[in-house]
Amino acid sequence: MKIAVLTGGGDCPGLNAVIRSVVRKGVQEYGYEFVGLRDGWLGALSDKVMPLGIAEVRGILPRGGTILGSSRTNPLKHEDGIRRIQDNMAAHQVDALIVIGGEDTLGAATELSRQGIKLVGVPKTIDNDVRGTDYTFGFDTAVGIATEAIDRLHTTAESHMRTLVVEVMGRHSGWIALHAGVAGGANVILLPERPFDIDQVCAWVKDRFKINYAPIVVAAEGAVPKDGQMILKDRSLDEYGHVHLSGIGEWLAQEIEQRTGTDARTTVLGHIQRGGTPSAFDRWLATRFGLHAVEAVKDGDFGVMVALHGTDIVRVGLDESRGRTKTVDPALYDEFEVFFG
Ligand code: F6P
Repeated sequence: MKIAVLTGGGDCPGLNAVIRSVVRKGVQEYGYEFVGLRDGWLGALSDKVMPLGIAEVRGILPRGGTILGSSRTNPLKHEDGIRRIQDNMAAHQVDALIVIGGEDTLGAATELSRQGIKLVGVPKTIDNDVRGTDYTFGFDTAVGIATEAIDRLHTTAESHMRTLVVEVMGRHSGWIALHAGVAGGANVILLPERPFDIDQVCAWVKDRFKINYAPIVVAAEGAVPKDGQMILKDRSLDEYGHVHLSGIGEWLAQEIEQRTGTDARTTVLGHIQRGGTPSAFDRWLATRFGLHAVEAVKDGDFGVMVALHGTDIVRVGLDESRGRTKTVDPALYDEFEVFFG
């Protein structure tokens, strides 16, 4: 059995832990051979293949990023994409793929699987927005980084008695904003799922100043004002049709200054949330996902994705879980309302 592994979409901490786990189990337990496809679906389309054995995965467990490289290439947007992937798999005598990706990469995998390509998916993303799994690896690390940033911002905000706005990642889902905001004791948390009222935000800010504390506002990059629109960095689209976000933090600071007459500044955490060494939890989850992905290949159980349900790793049909991102339940957000303002 020869298996090709690829990592697609935005990178996240823990990708290397999956690759290591897949190779270690596949080689040591079942005598499988592996190759790596470079840069996500791009490698599958353009035949960019690299060796992937025990030697290549040594020492990579704590390393962020991905030794295979990643891209937002969508094979369905390339002429003859599916046939080219099939041809390249045949040329390298690859029997099956392990596809490590988020909603976009796994969405493409779902279509390829429908077309007869044998593959198993592994969900990843710092955004935690992949439907069908309780958590994705990468999320815990990102929340830790954002929480540490919020902790640090509290002290400087208080020294200057000003509002500090923290913009975190999350296009369609506010998981990072909610978890880091709650863990960091933010006074306002704004999510894409819940269009916000800027008057309410300013009222919370003023309340905070009244009791002599400096407000911390955490906003997901995809948060939108009621009757407003998402703020885009530019108008370019990637191959999955996504726009480039960022700007809501700056907008909020300006509005808060104008409407409350107090000082406000913005910190955009950006790719810091995606870089560096994975947390222990992410290494643990990524390792388990890798082990179970190899088991699924061994069982010939293709067209599935490994997923975390409670504390168990299960397999869910790619078809069942694709199509929509996993968003924050409004009731969960409401639980924390007592901390706002
Ligand atoms: O999909 C993960 C993610 O980090 C999103 O939260 C963010 O909007 C996007 O990737 C940024 O993408 P890029 O690295 O291509 O700018």
